[in-house]
Order: sequence, then C-alpha cells, then structure tokens
Amino acid sequence: MHEDLWDILDSNLQDGDKAKGAVAVDAFPGLGKTTSVLAFARDFHCREIAERGRFTDQGHERWPVCRVGLTGNTSLKDLNQAMVEYFAHPGRLRGTTAQLGRQALDCVLSCEVRLLILDDLHFLKWRHTNGMELSNHLKWIANEFPVTLLKVGVGLADKGLFSEGEASGDAAQAQTGRRTTRLDMPPFTITSETGRRQFRKLLLALEQRLVLADKWPGMLADDLSDYLFARSTGHIGSLMTLINRGCQRAIRNRSECLSRELLDGVKNDAAAEEARRELEVALDQRKLTSRPRADRGTAA
Ligand SMILES: Nc1ncnc2c1ncn2[C@@H]1O[C@H](COP(=O)(O)OP(=O)(O)OP(=O)(O)O)[C@@H](O)[C@H]1O
Ligand SMILES: [Mg+2]
Repeated sequence: MHEDLWDILDSNLQDGDKAKGAVAVDAFPGLGKTTSVLAFARDFHCREIAERGRFTDQGHERWPVCRVGLTGNTSLKDLNQAMVEYFAHPGRLRGTTAQLGRQALDCVLSCEVRLLILDDLHFLKWRHTNGMELSNHLKWIANEFPVTLLKVGVGLADKGLFSEGEASGDAAQAQTGRRTTRLDMPPFTITSETGRRQFRKLLLALEQRLVLADKWPGMLADDLSDYLFARSTGHIGSLMTLINRGCQRAIRNRSECLSRELLDGVKNDAAAEEARRELEVALDQRKLTSRPRADRGTAA
C-alpha cells in the first residue's frame, strides 16, 4: 500500500488548477488502515522536511500532512473547523463556514500541505443533503488546494463513493468516483502458500519485538501459529490485542513466555471470539494449517 501511495502522491501535479487524483483506503475494521496510513504520513512528513527544510521560503512552519478525523455528523463547518484546529489557528473557535474555510485554505497554503488525510470517511451520510454538500466540498478541495486527498474508511464502495452515480441517481458523484484510486487492505489468509508465508513472516517479526525474558525463537511462529490464526482470524487488530494482553499476563504471573494455556485465559475482542470456533475445528482436524510447507517440519 505504501508503494502505491508513493506513486500516486509523487505523480500528482501539485499546482492549483488541475484536478488531482485522490486515494481511498477501503477495508474492514481492525485491519490497520489508520496505522498504515499514519506510518506513511510520518515517512512522507520526514522526507519533505529533510528535503525542503523545517520552514517554508516565506518563513512559515512546514506541515506536509494534515489529518482530520470525521465525527458522526460532520457538517461542512465541522470539517473546516477541524482543519483549522489541526493547525491550532487562533481563529478556530468562531467564524462562519466560509470564514473557517478560508482560514483552512490559508493554513494549507502557508504550511505547504501536500497530503490531506480524512479518516473514518464512512461516517459521512452521502445520500443526505449534508453528505452531498461535503462530497462537492471535497471535490472543490481536490481542485483548488495543492493537496492529494487520502480518504480512509469502511465500506466506501457500498456508500457509492466510487460508483458512476447511476446507482445513487446522481451523476455529480461520478466526479469523485472517476478521480479516486481505491486501495484495499485484505486480512491475512492461510488458504494459499503465499498467505501462509506472509503470516509466518509477521509472527517472526512480532516474536523479535516481544520483551519477555523466557521467550525462544519460534515461540509464536512455530508453536502458536495455528492457534494465533484461529484466535485472530487473520485480523491484525485482534492479533495485536491478544498478544499485548498475553504479554501483560505473562509478566504478571512471571512465566515470561507465551503458551497456549496462558493465552486461553486471555479475552480477545468480541468479533474475533465469535469467528474463532469454526476455524479452530478446521485447524484441529488438520484440514487447514497456517504454516508454510517448508517450515512444517520444524514445528514442535
Ligand atoms: N502494522 C502493524 N503493526 C502492528 N500492529 C498493528 C499494525 N497495524 C495495525 N495494528 C494494530 O491493529 C489495531 C487496529 O489498527 P487500526 O486502528 O489501524 O485499524 P483500522 O483499520 O483503522 O480500524 P478502524 O476501521 O476500526 O478504524 C491497532 O490498534 C494496532 O494495535
Ligand atoms: Mg481507523
């Protein structure tokens, strides 16, 4: 995903009068959208600062990235205010929608923002008046601001963000659809060899970062691979929660390592617990495995 983001961001012409391509990261909850996008934003921020300096030619602080999280019923004014708030502009507390919009533009131009991230965009109610208003507003931002829009959300395709507009009965929305590149973030799967190898790589990387006195190489990747996959169903959010809580417990009861017995006592998020049972049966009956072919012999 980062590779694609670099392509799109660096190829966008950042001068005012051309409509710039937008990006949408569209995936299920808990797959690491926010985490991944923020990691990219940090890299981008650091690169820009390293290349162009901490201050712009006009002496303003350089802020290459602006990130705004949407709320349940974000209106145009809220969005503008959130952008102004991000820059801690003194005028952020009062003003009309238009005034706040101008202040936001001023900040974006002064700080030479190049990437505007809108997180949790699915909160937007597209079919409502304020949804349409906001969608047009975003199109305007993409047109007039020298920024690349990065939208993050769940089920954006179903909301009609990428459709041509016929389905929603509104051709104007196609303007957004035609300019937005969709990036996906699938969960880990174990039905293919490539998927199994990726999952193992993740576990090996995690293993190295655990700070437990009695851990051993292969503790996660060899001994707990199937178990961890069943408990997390390949969702990184659930996996990290489980391991994090497991480590806390291992430290508290002084066992200083992760085992099946210890993790059995650790509660995970509701969705993962729900999906776990079916998978566990398949794994126990050896219909499925999470280990790549080459590494199966090494399992305990
Ligand atoms: N690359 C990663 N390395 C380690 N942990 C990660 C990684 N990506 C995600 N996580 C873990 O997964 C959890 C969920 O990730 P994140 O909040 O980014 O998901 P999301 O897709 O934005 O979810 P939502 O749709 O609910 O906003 C994070 O709290 C983090 O602990
Ligand atoms: Mg998120």
